[in-house]
Amino acid sequence: MQKEAPRDRRRLAFMWTWLAVLLAGCGGPDGGTSQPAAGELIDQKLSAVLYEQGFTGRVEQSLERRLGRKLDPRLADVGRLLFFDRISNLHNDNTCAGCHAPTNGFGDSQPMAIGIQSNLLVGPHRLGPRNQRRTPTVVNAAFYPRLMWNGRFAALSGDPFNNALGFQFPLPEGVSKFGPNNPRYPHLLVAQAHMPPTELNEAAGFTGVLDGIDPRLQVFDDGMGMRVPGLDASGSRNEAIREVVVQRLNAVPDYVRKFAEVFGQVREGGAVDIDMFAKAIAEFEFTLVRANAPLDRFARGDAGAMTASQKHGALLFFGKANCVSCHAVRGASNEMFSDFRMHNIGVPQIAPAFGPAKGNTIFDGPGENEDFGLEQVTGEIGDRYKFRTSPLRNLAAQPAFFHNGAFVKLEDAVRHHLDVLASLKNYDAAKAGVAPDLVGRTAPVDTVSATLDPQMSKALRLTEAEFADLVNFLRYGLLDERVRPGEMCKLVPDKLPSGPQFLTFEACR
Ligand code: HEC
Ligand code: HEC
Repeated sequence: MQKEAPRDRRRLAFMWTWLAVLLAGCGGPDGGTSQPAAGELIDQKLSAVLYEQGFTGRVEQSLERRLGRKLDPRLADVGRLLFFDRISNLHNDNTCAGCHAPTNGFGDSQPMAIGIQSNLLVGPHRLGPRNQRRTPTVVNAAFYPRLMWNGRFAALSGDPFNNALGFQFPLPEGVSKFGPNNPRYPHLLVAQAHMPPTELNEAAGFTGVLDGIDPRLQVFDDGMGMRVPGLDASGSRNEAIREVVVQRLNAVPDYVRKFAEVFGQVREGGAVDIDMFAKAIAEFEFTLVRANAPLDRFARGDAGAMTASQKHGALLFFGKANCVSCHAVRGASNEMFSDFRMHNIGVPQIAPAFGPAKGNTIFDGPGENEDFGLEQVTGEIGDRYKFRTSPLRNLAAQPAFFHNGAFVKLEDAVRHHLDVLASLKNYDAAKAGVAPDLVGRTAPVDTVSATLDPQMSKALRLTEAEFADLVNFLRYGLLDERVRPGEMCKLVPDKLPSGPQFLTFEACR
């Protein structure tokens, strides 16, 4: 494989942009005066800013180089089937795509995820008990060095493609399960795919679960699906659940055959293992990279890829508004608009009521209406309410914003950042437009603001025009049109190896 010097490439891209700007100036309508027009000045400024930030617009093209191989279309296709199949869900009524919905750029159709016991719809009319957080998109997650809202799954190398230092997960997996240089887990997403089937409220259900859970959760035992294994000697049921998933996979000849086509060594009678399952899921996720937004094309030299308003918004984002100090693009950020660190930015805490058809997760705090975020991982009270800086690509596909969907308009999510303390104090869930079942259990403001990120304690003033430009940049300047439902719905399989498609994707109909 050809070795590249990324810095030189960036310099080259920058020079091309510059050259394009100059050439455009010569042939411009004003007959080539030496004064650059306003549009050219802004192009020059933005090119310079992107260069300074190390933003190339070429992260999508780097995927196979960083994997060190070409994508395997057959493996990705098995992964696609698995992603839509209930085979890995012991409760038999949900799958990855029920939450990571093709109708929403493989993120949530909901402000807060609904897992098991849903009405099998995916879209605005999905009903069922809520979990605790909004489902982030898996589009571009191949480039995330740290996963989940509280950052609990991480590549210790800082690079999801590099397992030299291992992948860190909370117990029972800990640091040993996906340890350094283990060829079974070549990428952070391969490790991650071991987790969803083990989540009771998302996938496995509560049927027959007697141990290891708060007894109040036993009301969600509806006797449906399979009996969930009890705790093993290590005090966890995760491995036991994975074993059941493996048995289920091996019972479907179509899956055994498809895995054999890829891995060769699958024995007669079936020996698909959980690592094969995880590799297939991750391979499908690798095919879901969509990072060719107007900003990327601009960075690669197409000055016409962005509107003037988007360019102004970008300059605010990287400049006066300093959003980039957290929503970073350089280095380990992989041009994903996140530093992949956790901050408390004072997002209002909202929660559903607990109980059948309402909510099946016990929240934190005395009122059980809070989400402690990073504190759940570190045990440090100073980490309370800290959440991972959201990557900002393809926001236009999302029906709600922040870890809990506290705002349903992008404008409101941005406005919240401009004056966090005022936003928190004046927050009204009903006015923010959140679903009725998430209104009425807002946590007290003073607790949320106690660990506020210092950068958020000062209000930022923008004119109305600046605000509109900033939102325009976020909504369209970072949108890859290929995440729209029209494109993504093409990935929904007509039928599945285990039987018919069982979810209805509302916006795909
Ligand atoms: C019940 C809904 C639900 C199901 C089913 C589900 N997920 Fe998720 N997923 C979530 C939520 C919610 C999060 C964030 C959870 C958190 O931060 O605590 C998440 C996080 C992720 C992430 C990390 C994304 C990021 O930005 O850090 C990946 C990758 C992922 N899920 C893949 C999968 C795969 C693969 C499956 C199926 C095997 C699956 N999920 C099943 C809801 C779901
Ligand atoms: C101090 C770090 C920090 C700064 C500065 C910052 N953000 Fe954020 N941003 C975050 C964090 C953390 C989240 C996720 C919070 C949560 O969900 O609880 C977030 C979430 C968002 C979201 C919601 C995305 C989603 O998927 O829900 C948007 C939009 C956003 N930020 C835009 C901006 C803009 C625009 C600016 C500049 C005006 C900015 N941010 C400045 C840390 C920051």
